[in-house]
Amino acid sequence: MIITIASFKGGVGKTTSAIHLCQYFATRKPKRRVVLADGDPNRTVIDWAESSPFDLPFAVADASGELPEYEILVVDTPARTEPNELADLIESSTLLLIPSKVDIFDVRATLALADTLRPYPNRYRILLTGLPPRGKRLLNAALELFNEKELQVFKSGIQHFTVYRDAAYEGIPVGRYSEAGKRAMQDYEEIGSQILKGWKDG
Ligand SMILES: Nc1ncnc2c1ncn2[C@@H]1O[C@H](COP(=O)(O)OP(=O)(O)OP(=O)(O)O)[C@@H](O)[C@H]1O
Ligand SMILES: [Mg+2]
Repeated sequence: MIITIASFKGGVGKTTSAIHLCQYFATRKPKRRVVLADGDPNRTVIDWAESSPFDLPFAVADASGELPEYEILVVDTPARTEPNELADLIESSTLLLIPSKVDIFDVRATLALADTLRPYPNRYRILLTGLPPRGKRLLNAALELFNEKELQVFKSGIQHFTVYRDAAYEGIPVGRYSEAGKRAMQDYEEIGSQILKGWKDG
């Protein structure tokens, strides 16, 4: 299974999603060989993994080089994908995961892709990230706009927690960082479990 994580605006949680989904896939039984391929020329994932004080349960590799064997491959991509690359990304992946914040500028950047995404309802999902901890007003407003355009969105999202930034500094997946991190990780566990149930091609 190949999960590509891409977005049409930078800084929406692609790399954070890639790391924490890999952490989930690699530690949930039965254990699977998981590879996180860094496709960002900034080498964000590679540098993060090198800064980690732990042996990670998944392998990290440069997406442009040779990849270790995998059962699940997660590909992190550069800050912003061009809309004309979208169809290729979908064709080369089991699932294209598109993180989007619920701020209107982020939502509009994703809505602009509706026509390209519509023919592939089972090959992509939008993942709402950085959700405000209180109040569902923005979440509901974003969901309504995505629904109007028949875009497929995961029913649950990723809440905003400061622990993501703190843990990233130390090269530690949030679930191993603190109790607050374990709580934050539950959002990714829910998404990871939906992916394993919904996209079973190995
Ligand atoms: N759910 C969250 N709550 C709080 N902070 C978050 C969350 N997700 C990510 N962050 C923080 O937001 C910043 C951007 O996240 P990240 O690097 O994952 O985004 P990105 O889409 O990969 O960015 P880029 O487009 O630059 O590659 C990081 O500092 C990260 O720690
Ligand atoms: Mg990134």
